[in-house]
Amino acid sequence: MGNSSASLPGRHIVLGITGGIAAYKTPDIVRRLRERGADVRVALTHRARQFVTETTLKAVGATLIEEQDGPQGMAHIDAARWADMVVVAPATAHFISRLASGAADDILTTLCLATEAPLLVAPAMNRIMWEKPVTQTNCRRLVEHGTMLIGPDSGPQACGETGFGRMAEPASIVHAIETFWGPRSLDGVRALVTAGPTHEPLDPVRILTNRSSGKMGYAIAAALARDGAEVTLVTGPTTQPTPVGVRRVDVTTAADMLAAVQEHRQDGCDLFVGTAAVADYRPEQASPGKIKKGPASLTLVLVRNPDILSEVARWQPRPYIVGFALETERLEEHARQKLQEKNLDLVVGNLAGPGTGIDSDTNALTLVDSNGSVSWPSDTKIALAQRLAAEIARRLNRDPHGRQN
Ligand code: CTP
Repeated sequence: MGNSSASLPGRHIVLGITGGIAAYKTPDIVRRLRERGADVRVALTHRARQFVTETTLKAVGATLIEEQDGPQGMAHIDAARWADMVVVAPATAHFISRLASGAADDILTTLCLATEAPLLVAPAMNRIMWEKPVTQTNCRRLVEHGTMLIGPDSGPQACGETGFGRMAEPASIVHAIETFWGPRSLDGVRALVTAGPTHEPLDPVRILTNRSSGKMGYAIAAALARDGAEVTLVTGPTTQPTPVGVRRVDVTTAADMLAAVQEHRQDGCDLFVGTAAVADYRPEQASPGKIKKGPASLTLVLVRNPDILSEVARWQPRPYIVGFALETERLEEHARQKLQEKNLDLVVGNLAGPGTGIDSDTNALTLVDSNGSVSWPSDTKIALAQRLAAEIARRLNRDPHGRQN
């Protein structure tokens, strides 16, 4: 400790250990964290004590969190405040399900719920338990709420099976903790992201809108923030939770969305990602009172909304601009048309259909720029968003002023 090359000097790490066989590897995690200068407190579940002893953990320099510690026996609150990061390794399927449901019925779940520190979870379980849709849903939910997952790895398991389910190795877990505070690919990049649908009022009780869920846009905002960008998310009405570390601005109409985007231009903008499904038209006039039924047919007059992306493309200095295209046919051709007409740097195309596009949890993307196109096969929106963030970082680094035209 006190090592001058310490990569985690004085960092406060809480290590939560749950009852899986991989718990026997946790003294190695503690030792590695201590070598890098971190302060480590550990919280064990009852079952974890069957796999690793307090004596061993203390011997490698960890402090135990006991329920009776702290003022008025509030050890979990005290540790939740103290932590710079909470790491749960190994995390059993049962623990993950309790965490995903917001349970707070023991010291470790309570600590995880009570902390504002980032949470890193290393699942470890039998292959079949890991592959069960319910476990996958729980993990997806955790990621959507900002939890970082590491592993599991594939290989031979204690239960005699081979497959995914082994806890990530202590060295990889410690590396993930180090890189969290290390330089990230989008450090210093100021990003403005639009997401969700817009609502265009017809009268006080009716709106024109579309079926956008905001999932893809929120996943992109989360991925950009995870990679270090300073993200402002201007969003139409959705039920999505605000991603960790993202500044969220709620708007209703396309005109509001444009106004909010213009307002946040002042903060500086290096990257603009337009994922919002902005209504192209709005009712010419919103009726001040409820429109009553009357004649057999009713004609609505709609007028064009401003195009937010085209406005942003006129800014000087001009950010790197990524637009989205949702199509039902001839995806690449339409995406290329948008690239040129709106003067964008990159268009991300997706098809509306089963398992893709609006409201689905999965998507398949085609990226189109002036040099050509590339297609990414179907994956979760979260995985695609992370891949897109990495691709954007690569483009910005190659051409930091990536604002030709
Ligand atoms: N967009 C925008 N402002 C608008 C409309 C769309 O910024 N008023 C952005 C969207 O966020 C998305 C892209 O433009 O990035 C989609 O282009 P758009 O022309 O709206 O697509 P469609 O409406 O599907 O176009 P069309 O009806 O011409 O196919």
